[in-house]
Order: sequence, then structure tokens, then C-alpha cells
Amino acid sequence: MTRLFEPLSVGGVRLPNRIAVSPMCTYSSPGEGRAVDFHMVHLGALAMGGAGLVVQEATGVLPEGRITPACLGIWSDEHVPAFARIVNAIHAGGAAAGIQLAHAGRKASTWPFGAGVGTMPADRGGWGPVGPSAVSFGPGHLEPHALEASEIESVVRAFREAARRAVQAGYDVVEVHAAHGYLLHQFLSPLANHRTDSYGGAFEARSRLVLEVVRAVREVVPTSKALLVRVSATDWVEGGWSLEETARLAKIFATEGVDLVDVSSGGMVPDAKVAIGPLYQVPFSERIRRESGLPVGAVGMVTTPIQAREILSNDQADLVFLGRALLQDPYWPVHAAQALGEQGQWPPTHLRGAPAGAVARRAFGA
Ligand SMILES: Cc1cc2nc3c(=O)[nH]c(=O)nc-3n(C[C@H](O)[C@H](O)[C@H](O)COP(=O)(O)O)c2cc1C
Repeated sequence: MTRLFEPLSVGGVRLPNRIAVSPMCTYSSPGEGRAVDFHMVHLGALAMGGAGLVVQEATGVLPEGRITPACLGIWSDEHVPAFARIVNAIHAGGAAAGIQLAHAGRKASTWPFGAGVGTMPADRGGWGPVGPSAVSFGPGHLEPHALEASEIESVVRAFREAARRAVQAGYDVVEVHAAHGYLLHQFLSPLANHRTDSYGGAFEARSRLVLEVVRAVREVVPTSKALLVRVSATDWVEGGWSLEETARLAKIFATEGVDLVDVSSGGMVPDAKVAIGPLYQVPFSERIRRESGLPVGAVGMVTTPIQAREILSNDQADLVFLGRALLQDPYWPVHAAQALGEQGQWPPTHLRGAPAGAVARRAFGA
């Protein structure tokens, strides 16, 4: 069997295969961070398609941490029952359920993708963003309020409480979003963090918030589950957060109980020159895996089954995250199995529609 379809243990969670649904915003909450049937159907369908892990979109740990007013949130115990239904739907589809916990910082309160640029005005449901320093993301974005020390403590607490609720809802995997120019990444990057207190300046100080969040979240995510951190390996800007610093941070993650680093890049400033192309972030995951000794996920323009198989067989990553390819085809994992000559990846309920010789796949928890 190709490694792509072999089980993978991440922390205390055994994934049935090594294909993960990358977290993707859907801008479909009716408000107050609430999840609705759409989210359950969408994520359940991705599980049915055969991925071993489905990670739910960036979910705000505080109302002001949402990217848009239509993003999900988990800042209240009242959010938990709807998320428990999503977990059930993902499990029913045969996958492990993950949630990405996020605070958008200075990139909060923006328009949903394609609907506008910059900060959404208050009369459309927007709010004033916060960040490490009063430095805006770019044109059209409001200057954020620079968080005070007591407000930073509240952010750490919010991540911990959100993780506790995620565990209560039944998620198997909790991912801390420290990438794509959102709050935790803003603290890491000298481009957004101009602080002169103990949260700014040298690498150790810029890394302080993300490490406090990781520790707080690990306290409430038991070892029977898995803790992931998504990082931007580089800002793609001279003088920004760098691959060297990411590798250094990942080594510290290894001592803080992180189970896997999900390696993305970019998002810090609008004018970064990103060398985008097939597999463009895979060298980053490979290096972080080698230097930290932690399992890693590769993501970014992985579109073909052979690419996914080779990333694993070349030891460039342990898990492959796919985003847009799975939006185009939620059954990508089944089709990949067929293309790679694997017979055993069909949902058992679908065998009558499968080609001759197809066999039911192993499901999460089976
Ligand atoms: C519609 C859409 C929404 C996204 N939302 C998130 C998100 O909530 N959190 C995140 O970390 N990345 C998000 N991303 C980035 C994806 O997770 C992924 O890293 C990126 O699309 C590259 O992978 P791909 O080439 O396989 O699509 C989003 C991407 C898309 C296309």
C-alpha cells in the first residue's frame, strides 16, 4: 500500500490515512460565530470523500478575533452543541475531526473573500481590529489597537477556553492558527510587531505569545487527542519572519507537546513576492521536519495523487493537507486511490457504485 493510505498516529489520534482537509473559511455563519447545518453537511461531505482528517475552518476564540462577521466562533459554551453535531457528521463520514482555533488580530473584521477589501465598517457589522502594534495590514485596513499586557493575557485565556470547548464538542485534533498573518503570526513577525516590551524585539520575545498559547491549549487538550500548530514558514519579505526562525520555533514546539506542525507560508503583508507554484511550500515542511524532529504536514498546490504520494515517500512530510483540490472534488481521496491502484478506499455504503474489485476502506476509530 502507498504510504498515503496507511494509518498515521498523531499524538493520541490514529488517522485512517494521510490525507487531510486543510482548514478553509466558508463565510457561512449567520452571525455570532454560530455553526449551522451548512457547516455540518460541507465538512461531513469532505469526510465521506475519504480524507483521514477534516480540519474545520479558522474558528474565532473571541468575537473580535473572527476574520469576518460570517466566520465561525467558539468563545462561548453555547457554541458547543452545534460543533458536536459537526464532529458527529465528520465521524459518520469516516474521518477524524479537527478544528482550527484562530484570532485574526489586525486582519479581523474584513469583508468575506471577494466581497470587498480592507476593514468592514461598523454599519456592516465590522469592528476595530487589534494587533501587537498600531501598524495596519495595508490599504483599506484600519490601524489596530496595540494590545496591552492584560489584553494579551485575555487572548491566551480565550485560546485555552476555546480548546476546552473543542474537546468538549468531541474534536480529535485541535490546531492553533499561528500562520497567514493572523494575530499569533503578527506577534512573531517584525513586520507587524514593533513592541518594546517582553512580547517584542528578539526572537524569544516575539515567540512568547505563541508559546504561551501552545502551553495553555496543551493543558486542556489531553494526550489522547492531538495538538497541531499551523505556521507560516516565511513572510517572503526581507526582514520579516524567516524559515530559520520557524525551524527554531518548531524545535521549541517539540518540547512543548505539539504533535505536528502544519507548514504553510505568507499572509503577513499584501505585497509579499511569493514564489507560488506546484508544491512550493514542501521544501519548508521538509526542513522543519528534519530540524525539529516533529511530524509535519505539507500544504499548498498539491493537486495530484502522485505529488501527494511522493511528498510522503521522499520524507518531506508525514501528512498532506489539500485545500482547493478537495473543494473541486471532495472524493479526491477515492479517485487518488483508484489512480494509484489502491482498491480499498471506498465508503462501504458506496460499494455498489464502485468499479469491480473495490473494497471498503477503514474508517476513523474502526
Ligand atoms: C476558500 C479558502 C479558505 C481558506 N481558509 C483558511 C483558513 O480558515 N485557515 C487556514 O489556515 N487556511 C485557510 N486557507 C488556506 C488553505 O488551508 C490552504 O493552505 C491553501 O489553500 C493552499 O492549499 P491548496 O493549494 O491545496 O488550496 C483557505 C484557502 C481557501 C482556498
